[in-house]
Amino acid sequence: MITKYLKKLMFSLLICIGLLNGYHCTKNSDDTNNTTYSDEAIKRTFGEAININNPENYASQNIPSYIIADNGGVIDDKKATLGRVLFYDKALSTNGSIACASCHQQQFAFSDTAIQSKGVNGLTGRHSMRLINARFARETKFFWNERAASLEAQTTQPIQDHAEMGYSGLNGDPNIDDLLTKLNAIDYYQELSAWAYNQNKGDKTLNEQDLQDCLGAFIRSIQSFDSKFDEGRKQLGNNQNNAPLPNFSADENAGLQLFSAPPVFGDSGIRIAGGLGCGGCHRAPEFDIDPNTRNNGFVRTIDNPAILDLNNTRSPTLRDLVNLNGDLNGPMMHTGSINSLETLIGHYNRIIVRPGNNQIDPRLTPRGFPQRLNVTPAERQQIIAFLETLTGNSVYTDAKWSNPFAQ
Ligand code: HEC
Ligand code: HEC
Repeated sequence: MITKYLKKLMFSLLICIGLLNGYHCTKNSDDTNNTTYSDEAIKRTFGEAININNPENYASQNIPSYIIADNGGVIDDKKATLGRVLFYDKALSTNGSIACASCHQQQFAFSDTAIQSKGVNGLTGRHSMRLINARFARETKFFWNERAASLEAQTTQPIQDHAEMGYSGLNGDPNIDDLLTKLNAIDYYQELSAWAYNQNKGDKTLNEQDLQDCLGAFIRSIQSFDSKFDEGRKQLGNNQNNAPLPNFSADENAGLQLFSAPPVFGDSGIRIAGGLGCGGCHRAPEFDIDPNTRNNGFVRTIDNPAILDLNNTRSPTLRDLVNLNGDLNGPMMHTGSINSLETLIGHYNRIIVRPGNNQIDPRLTPRGFPQRLNVTPAERQQIIAFLETLTGNSVYTDAKWSNPFAQ
């Protein structure tokens, strides 16, 4: 009894001495015990939404075994939590009115229903992309025209875009260092960064690389694998890409075949047999874009249709084009000019090559002719029924991807 009591006393004494010296006893131990990190400002700002003693699970989510594509990067629960705060924080814009989430809204699969989204100094030049399964793709470059070398590199570009968030450093705009100074002075970032980087409060200041790592971890964590398609794939087992799914209707299975099988073209680029060839560029079961794809005929600039924009060769995954009610999560393509699944099929049915479009993907111009798929009304219904099976559930509602500022 007495030795036990003494041991306890000794232990408490040690902790007290440690605390008096400002030394965090748990700092170097593994991260299971966070009790020494202060979280007053976190609690005050986010209430129950963020609990540093029990962070949300971003790093160890279940990934179906048939999902193979992964463009790299690391997810860490603490950095993703900090990334979530950054993603929803309007302080990341010069006038405090725009967050990443203003244009990438959870209820619309992290996209926007507007063709062009509103930033601090005007509208975006292209349509806002859905941020679903960004990680599960063979393509490692980001943006419609793949101008960002990685997801991490992408994340601080909107911040430094004059129109979007405004920290461009040009023409009188403040620059990213001004933003970092501003963020590092905010109490909840002082606490969150100490916690996420295992440092004493005040010792860790966020730099641009940290913003990239944290935002990248958060976006990488956004995954959608609970669609009807996934249910079917789980029932079917592995290595059976394009096989009929047990839980699908006849139309949905016919749509899956149309999506996957390549068309057989006769003279003049007219389809005489086979499928619609979508899967050659949007590959199942990730439905990510083939990294070697060129443009698909959408080559106009929203602001000025006379100016050609030829290098948009990336697409987000085709998962979650529509929400659970069957409504589109936003208009499609970098131009935002396709606003129904019917007109989507209409585009591929009859490809138009605009004068000057020398970058169209050759798969869409068989024998040098713009493709004519001759999609029948029944086939149109089937392919649409199939595309609608790619919508998940949890991505729209899961609290770990929601706005932590809302209480
Ligand atoms: C004003 C609206 C707006 C804001 C704010 C905004 N974005 Fe975007 N985002 C867009 C648009 C538009 C695109 C496509 C732009 C392009 O390709 O030229 C895009 C593309 C992306 C992509 C590329 C997705 C892909 O699959 O290639 C990522 C990732 C992304 N945004 C993350 C962010 C992050 C992180 C923030 C906050 C730091 C942010 N966005 C802020 C509108 C916005
Ligand atoms: C030759 C490659 C290729 C083929 C074949 C192809 N696509 Fe695409 N798809 C693309 C490219 C590239 C984009 C991005 C275009 C842009 O916005 O400029 C795209 C974009 C899309 C989008 C918009 C995604 C979004 O988030 O806005 C949808 C939906 C789509 N394709 C569906 C299909 C369907 C359905 C088929 C078959 C009928 C198909 N695609 C065939 C290359 C292809």
